[in-house]
Formats: sequence, structure tokens, C-alpha cells
Amino acid sequence: MIIRPAKRIRGRLEMPGDKSISHRAAMIAALATGTSRLRNCSNSEDCAATLGCLSGLGIKINREGNDVLVAGAGPRGLTAPAAPLDCGNSGTTMRLLAGILAGQSFTSTMTGDASLLTRPMQRIIEPLQLMGATIDSHDGRAPLIINGKYPLEPVDYTLLLASAQAKSCILLAGLSARGRTTVIEAVPTRDHTERMLRWFGLQVDAGDARKEGEVFAAVSPAREFTARDVEIPGDISAAAYFIAAATLLENSEIEIAKVGTNPGRTLFLSYLKSFGLSVRVDEAGEVGNEPVGKVRATGSRGATESSRTINGTFVAGLIDELPLIAIVGSQLDGGIEIRDARELRVKESDRIAATAAGLRAMGAAVEEFDDGLRVSGPVQLRGALIDSRGDHRIAMAFTVAALLAEGESEIRDAECVAVSFPEFFALMDSLIER
Ligand code: S3P
Repeated sequence: MIIRPAKRIRGRLEMPGDKSISHRAAMIAALATGTSRLRNCSNSEDCAATLGCLSGLGIKINREGNDVLVAGAGPRGLTAPAAPLDCGNSGTTMRLLAGILAGQSFTSTMTGDASLLTRPMQRIIEPLQLMGATIDSHDGRAPLIINGKYPLEPVDYTLLLASAQAKSCILLAGLSARGRTTVIEAVPTRDHTERMLRWFGLQVDAGDARKEGEVFAAVSPAREFTARDVEIPGDISAAAYFIAAATLLENSEIEIAKVGTNPGRTLFLSYLKSFGLSVRVDEAGEVGNEPVGKVRATGSRGATESSRTINGTFVAGLIDELPLIAIVGSQLDGGIEIRDARELRVKESDRIAATAAGLRAMGAAVEEFDDGLRVSGPVQLRGALIDSRGDHRIAMAFTVAALLAEGESEIRDAECVAVSFPEFFALMDSLIER
């Protein structure tokens, strides 16, 4: 994809359905009794992978425009797949569905694309084995052969790393356990699974754990529960690219309606504000147990004195936006430093290396650490050839960088944006004024 610099972006827009929430809605609807309509369901390749896997498990799925109809088979209604379940590029599909499959009385194989086969799965294998499933892997990596067991043993499990996917995996497995399953987190992560289970009428207890700062979430064995329609909020992680571009291009103005504002996902907006950039969230409401609002972003900067280091417990709430934050940082006085983010090396690509290489190609000074990077700023970026490494978030983050740059840029393997956001380039293009 060739990207030319933009003067500004302007417009009113809506985002496709949130990817994280769509995965959960589809999986939980598959375990309900009756048909659920998922309105504004994500049309990403990742969510298509989840729907494909559910079909492979005997669930009937139909798409009607932006809606997806899932004919749930009840908590014990999945059937043994005839072929390996292909999770494509989607870590969420593999890690969450593994929790459901661990509690089935059949064996299933989960596989994925070249990137997914390199990603760490020990974080879900260990707790699922503690619960009584047997899982064969390639040294902690997929393909996974999941020999399910019903019922599973309940566990009280303390997560060793901040991961909503690992937490969700255990909670979903807990639906097939003999008693109450509890997950304790030292750093709270997005709670979409807990909210979606409650939307479908299942009880999830959650709150502060005994140790200071820790939180817990607990589920009980799932009784039968009834299908329910769900409206999926717009994807705030997809909105992030438009918001960042609008705040950095002078005289820009965008308004994004009906976007998810779950506090586990909006730390990015707080950081932009703390950098003196102009973002406002209003019209707070709720759909499907998730907060939604309208986000306005304009290209007018205020003064700022905020810290330019992101580390420690702040990393988890920003995990998908960190490459974009690094690019924003290249435009700020004092630049930015991101630490304690080693997890970025095992995302769809090594996002620390990809971000550092892309920013350097565009003329920024970047120091790379094992667990993050420091970007000097402000710098006038120059158009360059950017290798997305087939990673959707790298392709979208560098599209924003390319709009700010002097001269033309080329993003390689740009079609990977379809992993989360097939219409990304067309929508961005429709907002650009040159
Ligand atoms: C996700 C959780 C995060 C995030 C991913 C989606 C989810 O992953 O990076 O894009 O939907 O639960 P981790 O749980 O591995 O941090």
C-alpha cells in the first residue's frame, strides 16, 4: 500500500464491531441454548477464524450483513471436530477456545498460521492440565492436541503474567468444572469475558483479592442458559489509529460514535490527553453490558508536562496500542520510553523489533531494549518502505506515521490489516484531505 502524507483528516465515522468482544460473544452464544443474534459483529479474519472453528464443532452460523446468528447447542452440545480447527492468525481464538475444548469429552486439534505456531501457549496449557485436561504441544506451541475431560477439576489459579486471554481461557474452562474456579490477577486486564458471561445470565463474581492490588474473577459450573442477542460496540483499538492521526495532524476533526469505552481498553486515550493532545469521550451509554461512548479527536495541541515513560502495570491496558504510542511519542517533546513490555515480542510479530525498524527507516532515533524501546522526539518523519511483517497492528500504526511524514511511504504486506479491520485503508482514505 502506498501512503502519501495528509494535511488533515475529517469526518464522522463508526468502527466495525470490537474484535475482542465478538470472539467472546460467538463462543458463549455457541454454549447457550437457542439462537443469538450478534449485531455489529466484527468482520475481521480473526473473528472469522473463531466462527469457522465453532462450525467445525457442529455449531450452525449464519451471517446477515453486519449481524451473525449463532445457533447455540447448550453447554454440552459441541461435537467432536472431523478435522483440525484452524485458528488462522488469531491468538484469542486459540487461547479462549482451548478453555472450552478442555472441558469436552472428546479430543480436538487446534492449529494456525506460521505466526500463531510460534506463539507461547504454555500459559494456557499449564492451568488446563491442572484442571485435568491432557494437552500435547510442540514445546509449548501449537498445534495443540486437546484431550478434553468432563467434568474438569476447579482451580484457584494465580496468573503469572498479565493476560486477558489466559484469564478468559481458565474462566471458560471453569464452566465445565465440578466446582467454583477462581483466577487471580496481579494486574487487572480487560474483563470482556466476565461481562459477556453475565450478559448471558451466568454468574461471575469479581473484585479485589486478598493481596493489595490483586483482583479475582470466579465462575461456577454452567447450568443451561438461554440464547440472547448482543450488540457489539465499535472497536476502540481500531479507532485508536484514527484518533492518533487526528490529534497529530493540525486542524483535523473526527467523531467516532458508539465505540466501546471499557476501562480495560481506554488507557490509550488517557495517555493521549496526558500528552496534551485533544481527545474527548462523551455520551456514555451501555450495550451488551459494555460501556460505549462517542470519541472526538481534534488536531489542536495543549501544553503538557506528563511523564514520557510507560512501564509497569500500565503496559497491560495499552498492550495493543504500544506500537502506535511509540509513533505518537516520536512527535512529542522528549520522545517516549516504553519498558516492561517484553510481551510485545510474542504478539502477531515481534512488535518491539518491527516498531523500532519502521521508525528508524522513517528517520527517528530509536534505542531498542529487551523489554521495550526509547524513541526520541519530536522528529519530522520521512516516507519510507515499511515491513509490516504481516502484522495488522504494525501496518495500521505505520499508516498513521506515513500520513505525518514528508514524502511517500510503502507498507509491505498491507493486506494483513484484514486480520482485524478489512476496511481500514478505505475508511482512512475517505477522511484524508491533502
Ligand atoms: C486480547 C488480549 C490481549 C490482546 C489481544 C486480545 C483478548 O492479549 O493483546 O489482542 O481479546 O483477550 P493477551 O491476553 O495475550 O495480553
